[in-house]
Amino acid sequence: MDNNMEKTPEPDITRGAELFDRKNCISCHATDGSGTGNETGPALWGENSFNDAAGMARFSKAAGYIQNNMPRGLENTLTDQEAADLAAFMLSHERPVADKSEVGTYHLNPGRDYITKERRKKIRDKTFDWESLDSVKKAKQ
Ligand code: HEC
Repeated sequence: MDNNMEKTPEPDITRGAELFDRKNCISCHATDGSGTGNETGPALWGENSFNDAAGMARFSKAAGYIQNNMPRGLENTLTDQEAADLAAFMLSHERPVADKSEVGTYHLNPGRDYITKERRKKIRDKTFDWESLDSVKKAKQ
């Protein structure tokens, strides 16, 4: 995912949940994603986290950020698949819904990978079609 044109692998949130524990994200971001503080680890979901119009609410952006910056101190150690699984797991949780004025037509374009409230629910139910996003490539079977 170093190359912006490269697509993000189709994720699996069950693997993402395991990785969140195994890669020690919980030590700074807490098991429930509520964080340990803005300096030590901000909230990743829940009421104190970024809202769903933030760049970080885009699946591809979150995966790229996680791969390049996390786990803090061990940056660039996650594979593309691991970063995608972690991003999907993080974005499957509820977070503040952006004010309508913040949500432009860009955000609402269905090919864009903002993970909206409707998508979060489908992701948790495992009925979300990841390939409907322009940024996602199909998982290898
Ligand atoms: C040693 C502590 C530490 C660990 C471990 C860690 N993080 Fe972080 N994380 C931070 C800090 C601190 C920030 C705030 C940005 C910064 O200072 O780099 C952050 C920021 C983030 C953000 C951006 C949040 C925002 O509001 O923009 C995401 C996403 C994230 N971390 C995910 C993860 C994931 C996933 C893992 C596990 C693979 C992880 N982090 C492991 C400390 C940590």
